[in-house]
Amino acid sequence: EAEKSALKASIRDLLGARKAVLVAHYYTDEDLQSLAEETGGYVADSLEMARFGTESDAETLVVCGVRFMGETAKILNPEKRVLMPDLRATCSLDEGCPAAAFTAFCDANPDHVVVVYANTSAEVKARADWVVTSSIALPIVKHLASQGQKILWAPDKHLGHYIERMTGAEMLLWDGACVVHEEFKSFALDRVRKLHPDAAVLVHPEAPDDIVDQADLVGSTTQLIKAVAELPNQEFIIATDAGIFWKMHQIAPHKTLIPAPTAGEGATCESCAHCPWMAMNALQSLEQALRNGDREILIDPAIRQRAVVPIQRMLDFAR
Ligand code: 13P
Ligand code: SF4
Repeated sequence: EAEKSALKASIRDLLGARKAVLVAHYYTDEDLQSLAEETGGYVADSLEMARFGTESDAETLVVCGVRFMGETAKILNPEKRVLMPDLRATCSLDEGCPAAAFTAFCDANPDHVVVVYANTSAEVKARADWVVTSSIALPIVKHLASQGQKILWAPDKHLGHYIERMTGAEMLLWDGACVVHEEFKSFALDRVRKLHPDAAVLVHPEAPDDIVDQADLVGSTTQLIKAVAELPNQEFIIATDAGIFWKMHQIAPHKTLIPAPTAGEGATCESCAHCPWMAMNALQSLEQALRNGDREILIDPAIRQRAVVPIQRMLDFAR
């Protein structure tokens, strides 16, 4: 605890000295989420993280999350310095969609509008017509489908399939998945639901179909958090990364939150879902990133110029 307090004090000083602000995702450690809030920063889902960066007048954005979030911040704010606690914090969706193979897929389907999930590299975004996050994917695809457009979707096949089912859009899906959400087990979730028949089941759309099919509500991290506060239920079964519990407890302290199981044996937190790359964000790595000023996100200007177009299109649509 003493070490934690010393690290937090040092981070506060460094944030001031560097005119820096923290932007943290809900899946990061609660120490980082609380520090972001206490120091004038923000805790958010991917879409709000992108928006917050553009509205902040800080000179440095410190993005606690995974690499695509830092890249999006840099693409939208080329004049700002963007630091991350650990530049190796990647995402299985990003890793599973290399730019060269993706470009070939697009080239082979030139009559499709290219929609990519935010969880991709800057190079992949540079080839896209639209970028979407989980909170805005449905309305954007609905809009495109209403214009009669056929959609090439990458990289998350589960999110893509969910959107395809909800909108009836004609979609070609890349074969990628989130290793964290793929771990939820449908038969185990079914068992937990039977033990808690009054609980509402909240599911992130990166989860596979057989988990989504058991949901009372499917949504982005922010949408799931809002549901805990707004739905009348007292109990919730949550099928997403366990980092989200901190904010859910904060806004609805009297509600009971039950993690959806990732293995066959019940819902203990030993079997909770937690992203290994989000876990690379720690007080220590954050302090070092701020102290040394290295661990900086840099984007090739030619890539940035193209990648900003589909991201800005998403932000304008969301407005
Ligand atoms: P949200 O945009 O819903 O926060 O999701 C981001 C993410 O990486 C989920 O795994
Ligand atoms: Fe990527 Fe899944 Fe981790 Fe989100 S939880 S950053 S989608 S690997």
